[in-house]
Amino acid sequence: SSLNASIIPSEFTNPNLEVLYTAEQIKQRVIQLGQQISQDYAGNKNLVLIGILKGSCIFMADLMRAVDLELIIDFMAVSSYKDGTVSSGDIEILKDLTHPIRGKDVIICEDIVDTGLTLFRLTEILGSRGANSIRVATLLDKPETRKKEIKIDYCGFQVPNKFVVGCGLDAAGRYRNLPFIGVVKNPSL
Ligand code: XMP
Ligand code: MG
Repeated sequence: SSLNASIIPSEFTNPNLEVLYTAEQIKQRVIQLGQQISQDYAGNKNLVLIGILKGSCIFMADLMRAVDLELIIDFMAVSSYKDGTVSSGDIEILKDLTHPIRGKDVIICEDIVDTGLTLFRLTEILGSRGANSIRVATLLDKPETRKKEIKIDYCGFQVPNKFVVGCGLDAAGRYRNLPFIGVVKNPSL
């Protein structure tokens, strides 16, 4: 491997993980999404990428470097109010944006769209703040578990109805640093 190779290893070895998408596949796909965004927003100097923490951190870092436009970035952290283990659909803002988005063209960057409840509420909130446009980019889409219909404008990959980790996604805080997307075989290990 060359000295210019990625700073991350292509694979980590963990016998408890089944690889769904490799680091190389993710890299290539995110470059495609960046090129698509660059075309769709060509000439636009009003773009804000909003990363939803913590899960979007790696996708956001990769995506913004693949977008050949003037843009700014911002972050939010939200948590969904749960009724026991079932999401109620309302969200609490744990960390808000640092800049107003009135008149801005926003792309919300998510790690995964599952039920869609978080994004549904988030788009309502950001829309009420007077954004000029709001689109959604997500690394992963788990369509089988959707409860609210959400338009996803830029999607990396679809995943089956399994708990996936890596590339920013966690299981109780673990595995966010994995460079690939995997499924945990035995969650109790
Ligand atoms: P909703 O259901 O509102 O969920 O679309 C959005 C948030 O739930 C988390 N989530 C996952 N995290 N593996 C994870 O590590 C998964 O399979 C998974 N499914 C949902 C995630 O934080 C997402 O932003
Ligand atoms: Mg999470």
